[in-house]
Amino acid sequence: MSVPPFATGLQLLFSHEQIAARVAAMGTEISRDFRDEPVLLLGVLKGAAIFLSDLARALTVEASFDFLGVSSYGKGTKSSGEVRLTKDLDESMQGKNVILVEDILDTGLTLTYLKRLLLARQPKTFRIAALLDKPSRRKQPIEADYVGFSIPDEFVVGYGLDYAERYRNLPDICVVPREG
Ligand code: IMP
Ligand code: MG
Repeated sequence: MSVPPFATGLQLLFSHEQIAARVAAMGTEISRDFRDEPVLLLGVLKGAAIFLSDLARALTVEASFDFLGVSSYGKGTKSSGEVRLTKDLDESMQGKNVILVEDILDTGLTLTYLKRLLLARQPKTFRIAALLDKPSRRKQPIEADYVGFSIPDEFVVGYGLDYAERYRNLPDICVVPREG
């Protein structure tokens, strides 16, 4: 197993085959939960874009999309903890089966902020789907309803996730080695 030249030095964690299998299973689970009801997938830009596009195609229920932008003031591997909305939804989510789609659940600050904001808009149902979860890093008591992989406290990139905007187009998920 090898990563592309632009990702030399990173350690492979999940191959694109492993990710595809897990996303397919998540799609089956979500489709079973919603049966014949349509869902609205709300992707958190930019990290969730690739996961959302694959998850949407793994669903057998009708899905529409919308996107939110958030900023946590920081470009490195540590976030400052302050969350701010940089792009709101284009359409109303009231009365819909909303699934908030996020790349990774880390401290939980981002999803705690978004959950509170979105629940106030009165969806019919509200669920969270996170491709990755780092439970050991949690600062807020929030969990995702659908989790792809639970991982240890490592900084990961690829499949939408970045390090200072790099590596989002890496098909696999890799660990960035710690400095020093
Ligand atoms: P939280 O608010 O700490 O839960 O962080 C969520 C956001 O931090 C995610 O949407 C990512 O943008 C970013 N993040 C947290 N851990 C990682 C990582 O390992 N790689 C890349 N981004 C991460
Ligand atoms: Mg993100």
